Amino acid sequence: MESRTIRFSRRGELVSLTNVPPERTLLQVLREDLGATGTKEGCGEGDCGACTVVIAEPDQGRLRYRAINACIRLAHSIDGMALWTVEDLAGSDGALHPAQEAMVQAHGSQCGFCTPGFVMSLFGMYQNHVLRGATVTRELAQEELSGNLCRCTGYRPILDAAQSMAALPRIEQDEQAILRQLEALHAQRASEGVRGASAYLAPLGLPELLRLRAAHPQAQLVAGCTDVGLWVTKMHQQFGQVLDVTQVQELQRIAHDEQHLTIGAAATLTSASEALAAQWPQLAAFFQRFAGLPVRNAGTLGGNVANGSPIGDSMPLLIALGARVVLLSVRGERELPLEQFYTGYRQNVLAGDEVVGWIKVPRTGSPHPGALPQAGEGEEFLRAYKISKRYDDDISAVCLAIRMRLRDGVVEEIGIGAGGVAATPARAVQAEAALRGQPWTAQAARRAAAALGAEFRPISDMRASAAYRAEVLANLVQRFWLETQGHADVNLESFRLAEAALP
Ligand SMILES: Cc1cc2nc3c(=O)[nH]c(=O)nc-3n(C[C@H](O)[C@H](O)[C@H](O)COP(=O)(O)OP(=O)(O)OC[C@H]3O[C@@H](n4cnc5c(N)ncnc54)[C@H](O)[C@@H]3O)c2cc1C
Ligand code: FES
Ligand code: FES
Repeated sequence: MESRTIRFSRRGELVSLTNVPPERTLLQVLREDLGATGTKEGCGEGDCGACTVVIAEPDQGRLRYRAINACIRLAHSIDGMALWTVEDLAGSDGALHPAQEAMVQAHGSQCGFCTPGFVMSLFGMYQNHVLRGATVTRELAQEELSGNLCRCTGYRPILDAAQSMAALPRIEQDEQAILRQLEALHAQRASEGVRGASAYLAPLGLPELLRLRAAHPQAQLVAGCTDVGLWVTKMHQQFGQVLDVTQVQELQRIAHDEQHLTIGAAATLTSASEALAAQWPQLAAFFQRFAGLPVRNAGTLGGNVANGSPIGDSMPLLIALGARVVLLSVRGERELPLEQFYTGYRQNVLAGDEVVGWIKVPRTGSPHPGALPQAGEGEEFLRAYKISKRYDDDISAVCLAIRMRLRDGVVEEIGIGAGGVAATPARAVQAEAALRGQPWTAQAARRAAAALGAEFRPISDMRASAAYRAEVLANLVQRFWLETQGHADVNLESFRLAEAALP
């Protein structure tokens, strides 16, 4: 296979790398090929944030910055982007960037492994929020640092640092110069096209992606690599050829019409969750608990869906919402309900020449998001619950999403999606049947919980026992019942440690 040149912008200079194997990670290239050892390796699986770097791409005439994990990112995927590591922040005279200076002043710098990662997440926050005039609240700081773990429990000074960056003298990147550089790189790539013999195929357009998929069905399809990256770092897999969907413009788009929110498979989890939470604001807290920010900034909705993990978080919600998945190939397209996409544990109906193209989510409920339903619209409730051992950056033991529309107290429409209870993400058909057309009462909720228990046989594993999962499922239906009755304080988001402290 032919080698392909990787070109990206760093410190305002163009970096060009050749002979990089397709599965080589960005962290390996930084540390071993470029000698940039400031970026650290902790876990090698996207959990700890020691390897955090920031990438940027043009977006409507500006740069869009994203903190990502270099350890599970394939180096080729940053071709055409701008990159900052912890070594790229201080000025040529040694003056510290506000992300670094704030850490010094707040005594936030602790061990040498985590600190570079924390600084890069602060840098991402600085570019996306501070320079755009937003106030960094404690909540925002926690959210932006959700992918950085510190084992010495020193979060408080780091959060203080996040909140004090804005008071320091401003430092801005030369965005216009970087944009010009990236536009020139893009034009060069577009004119060169993609050579089918290349070991890393990264098409820019949909027709080219589909043609390459048909011609190279053996190539490893990748998106954000937040799953595939672990096959490389933990299972030492090597790929003869990789086909990367993330730069396909058509698949990055999110479109709204009267009926649907159509999310391109290559839209990042950050963008997809923002679009879904704009339609259903009550989902914002659920999405904050999906991995940590760097994983959401890299991973895609299409990758989450295609990966089909039974403990994946987006699928139960999408199933409850009645989402359909659109599969594309050179032969045309086909569309099916999401739950019918899965045929077994991490198996699906995709043919060798197909890719997941779009996820179509019906825009149910009030046409005025966040507002009360209008007369004649019925009453709609939507909740998604994630049960995991940690609040941030953890995988679900159980995930349950319920969408219910009531008319005159009777269940008119019901969608229930469940994760962690079967070999695939699943629709709770029996529980739905137990509720449809019935008055919504405490007794009906108990019947639905019993139907859920009869319908699924969860397994025991390191995350939870089968008995715990079964009990939690029933409890979540009870929580949903209480929330539909106006009890808003039966969830983790409204839990306050201080209030719960013993007198
Ligand atoms: C630290 C960490 C925490 C995580 N936490 C969570 C969590 O809380 N909840 C959760 O659900 N997941 C979690 N994940 C899993 C992961 O983030 C998701 O599964 C992710 O959405 C996968 O998307 P990706 O773009 O990275 O896909 P990739 O890793 O690139 O690909 C995954 C699979 O999907 C296939 N694929 C990708 N795109 C397409 C396409 N367009 N068409 C066909 N096939 C395709 C690939 O071939 C591959 O088989 C976590 C991962 C990490 C590392
Ligand atoms: S090394 Fe831990 S997230 Fe990358
Ligand atoms: S900063 Fe590394 S363990 Fe706390």
